[in-house]
Amino acid sequence: MKILGIESSCDETACSVVEDGKTVLSNIVASQIDEHRLYGGVVPEIASRRHAENITWVTKAALEEAGCTMDDIDAVAVTYAPGLIGALLVGVSFAKGLAMSAGKPLVPVHHIAGHIAANYISHPELKPPYLCLVVSGGHSHIVEVLDYSRYHVIGRTRDDAAGECFDKVARTLGFEYPGGKFIDNAAKSGDPNAYKLPHPKVQGSEYDFSFSGLKTAVINLVHNAAQKGETVNVNDMAASFQNTISDILVDKAMLAAKDLGYITIGLAGGVSANSGVREKLQKACDKRGYKLYMPEFKYCGDNGAMIACQGYFDYLAGRRADESLNGIATLSL
Ligand code: KG4
Ligand code: ZN
Repeated sequence: MKILGIESSCDETACSVVEDGKTVLSNIVASQIDEHRLYGGVVPEIASRRHAENITWVTKAALEEAGCTMDDIDAVAVTYAPGLIGALLVGVSFAKGLAMSAGKPLVPVHHIAGHIAANYISHPELKPPYLCLVVSGGHSHIVEVLDYSRYHVIGRTRDDAAGECFDKVARTLGFEYPGGKFIDNAAKSGDPNAYKLPHPKVQGSEYDFSFSGLKTAVINLVHNAAQKGETVNVNDMAASFQNTISDILVDKAMLAAKDLGYITIGLAGGVSANSGVREKLQKACDKRGYKLYMPEFKYCGDNGAMIACQGYFDYLAGRRADESLNGIATLSL
């Protein structure tokens, strides 16, 4: 079964054809990041306009690379939530038109479910139930993946998402947007114990995250140094920050796994590309005898393949949308 997946929830216009939820026949991603970088973040209005310009050629290219026409496609899957509303609406409207004109079923996919599904592409042997740590630019969740299309979110961030925290700390250290990968690079030549940073406690739920205190601590150290006419060592600060946020993420995920009895763990979302998070989570899982699944680097960030993959499982679960499908900016998993 071939599913065409469309993703346009933020600043990547992406389309992919995936067979049986695991074999990627094509994966085209048009990134707008060079333009948004000029403004230090994603500008929603620009994102919508670029999606409208790119979505047709990106879809044509995905079909061509897969050696398919719409006749070969069994269903059209599209990200309908959550994300920037104007950006989502471009993908949703396009997918509705495409599905309707080709007479194919339309499958609405939740963006976070798509990130989780990236693991099925890289590891088709992975089967629910398992516990997944989802860390992206907009979300930080600990999720019980009960089945391919059924989830129970047990922890979430109370303020910034992990990726947002990486990006804000990166900006403070002078890196361009989005700075997560620059922190990752700088951390490789820094001392992770050079700066002592807080591990914020969250009242109420032991699986919830809070990253704003950590971000503020870095900003204060940088500003205090500047007031004294000094500078922080950027590599050391990047390494210390990455070490701390990785510890926070891994500690909570391991606590949840222990409490709920999971021995299979997944990692997903843009921040799953981070070498510090990957290494620490791998070590923690090895120590406990847990099996860890992480997406290949090309499927960590936003892409159409993860949407097509999740679309396949949602299709099998009977999920369908009709012409009334709308984008939803905020929607829990
Ligand atoms: O999942 P994603 O592509 O978009 C959302 O759904 O939000 O995640 C983007 C986030 C950005 O904050 C970016 O800085 C972060 O993922 N990111 C990284 C790395 N690569 C991307 N953060 C830390 N280390 C990386 N290597
Ligand atoms: Zn994403």
